[in-house]
Amino acid sequence: MRSLQDDAFVWGVGSSAFQVEGSTATEGRSPSIWDTFCLVPGAIDDSSDGTVACDSYNRWREDLDLVKALGLGAYRFSVAWPRVLPDGRGPVNTAGLDYYDRLVDGLLERGIQPYVTLYHWDLPQTLQDEGGWASRDTAYAFADYAQAVAARLGDRVRSYATLNEPWCSAFLGHGTGEHAPGRRDPAEVQAAVHHLLLGHGLALQRLRAEAPLADAGIVLNFTPAYPSDPADARDVEAARRHDVANHELFLGPLFAGSYPAEVVGRSGSAASYVQNGDLAVISGRCDYLGVNYYTRTLVKHDEGVPWPHARSSSPVGAPRTDMGWEVYPDGLEDLLVRLSRQTGLPLFVTENGAGLDEPETLAPAMRLDDERRVTYLSGHLQALERAAARGADVRGYFAWSLLDNFEWARGYTKRFGLVHVDFETQRRTPKRSATWFAEHAADTRKSPHLP
Ligand code: FCB
Repeated sequence: MRSLQDDAFVWGVGSSAFQVEGSTATEGRSPSIWDTFCLVPGAIDDSSDGTVACDSYNRWREDLDLVKALGLGAYRFSVAWPRVLPDGRGPVNTAGLDYYDRLVDGLLERGIQPYVTLYHWDLPQTLQDEGGWASRDTAYAFADYAQAVAARLGDRVRSYATLNEPWCSAFLGHGTGEHAPGRRDPAEVQAAVHHLLLGHGLALQRLRAEAPLADAGIVLNFTPAYPSDPADARDVEAARRHDVANHELFLGPLFAGSYPAEVVGRSGSAASYVQNGDLAVISGRCDYLGVNYYTRTLVKHDEGVPWPHARSSSPVGAPRTDMGWEVYPDGLEDLLVRLSRQTGLPLFVTENGAGLDEPETLAPAMRLDDERRVTYLSGHLQALERAAARGADVRGYFAWSLLDNFEWARGYTKRFGLVHVDFETQRRTPKRSATWFAEHAADTRKSPHLP
């Protein structure tokens, strides 16, 4: 039996390498596509970058102590590919792996389980120079990288995720250009979708070989589409198509072994990059599915926009975070019920949280009363409980994020942390949401029943 089967409900917090580590040129790390992208004028709202971030490369002990102080059983972090394989492939940089080795040991010493994500968007720039995810070779390089990590960390890590949110890598990285590598080419989006998925499948095989006792899966992001006018059959149909184009595009190949019929044959469809045997690799067995949920979208049928002919909006007057994202906990309930039925897999909510405009500096002894974040988290945890009561097999919940950090194209302007970070002094100060979440997690009566 794998570890997943005998666990209690898992309560954790998450982070990712580029968003917190800093030390981007230390101990052999090479530049990633995000280091390059940050240099593009206008790419990042506050023209910032990840060179220091939360300085977690140096302050990791303090960070792990914070997780322990919250009494949480799990910490989700990602490994930076350019630290481990500075050339993208080939020789392993032992010093880079040493950092994650210390992190894993540090977690285990504190009684916290490491949940490791292998790819949270920081592709080595050297691989981008050879085509990045638009190139099939990147999938093979990713598998080698996964093997190198698992060979070192092995079964001390109980849970691996191959990719975080491949939708973002493909659509924001290659379509809208909002994320690294900042490309805007619809054909590349589809190539990237397929090569990311292939990389996932190949990496899964290596994880099985190197860490047979660990659970392995993938983390997908979902922004469920609801019809703008539920009484208008065209909007209902547009919402369905939106789901196919954004979610089934990943769920189909991963869990049903095929791309959705509606996307096959469209010009530049991901399916046109498929070679014999790819789908069998991509649909290799996952032990769980990681679900990232922040908000939903409303869609209106619109022939004037390209397939899926769905124009997105968000309801007027609805509560929002400062990211502009509607706060809609019911979306999480519906999503977990649907994914549990559809995949039959144990689910983890691997990200959920509120991005807010909060002060850069706190007066000494001041505690930030982030009431809106507490409301956000508590609403979504109630939704999770309702989903579990309806039979969804949810095994854990990771709040995003432990710390305020580098929020990609938003730079340091939006804060998601349960713990405030003063980026001038690197002082960490738990917000009220940290205490609230710790108390909620500690109260086992609040943990959804496991099957
Ligand atoms: C997700 C990312 C994560 C974080 C949150 C707010 O898309 O996976 O790194 O930035 O959004």
